[in-house]
Amino acid sequence: ICERTLIAVKPDGVQRRMVGEVIKRFEQRGFKLVGIKMLQASEAVLSKHYHDLQKKPFYPALIRYMASGPVVAMGSMVWEGHNVVRSSRLMVGETDSSQAKPGTVRGDFSVHISRNIIHASDSVEVAEKEIGLWFHTAELITWETNDHSDLYQV
Ligand code: CMP
Repeated sequence: ICERTLIAVKPDGVQRRMVGEVIKRFEQRGFKLVGIKMLQASEAVLSKHYHDLQKKPFYPALIRYMASGPVVAMGSMVWEGHNVVRSSRLMVGETDSSQAKPGTVRGDFSVHISRNIIHASDSVEVAEKEIGLWFHTAELITWETNDHSDLYQV
């Protein structure tokens, strides 16, 4: 199975210089980076991205937080790999950072649900939608791995 997911370092993660740490963890795991950018997220993109949360009481604060500084789309990264959606969710940890296990990004670096550093798509279907929202097709590079670094030939 080859899946893609969207990983985004949120504005608090960028402020805290966590971009490298996040990339490092996903590269070490063997995921392939196929797209990366830094951007100031627009209200238009954020309202689509968080469409399902529109009715939640924390929604306005969530949008303010996500628009408060640049996101590395790297804040958003798109990675390709086996079961990348499920494994990346495990690496990221629980949404509520106070419940996230040590060893996860949130469990190691965050204590609060509303400043949880990183986004990871929660299903394959959602991932495809989110990638389409944050990236143009031409911005995704499906490069070939060479014999020495190929982690995918199983
Ligand atoms: P994430 O799971 O990446 O996407 C939805 C975000 O909404 C979540 O991270 C949190 O940042 C935020 N969120 C979810 N639930 C709450 C909550 N109860 N209070 C504040 N923020 C929340």
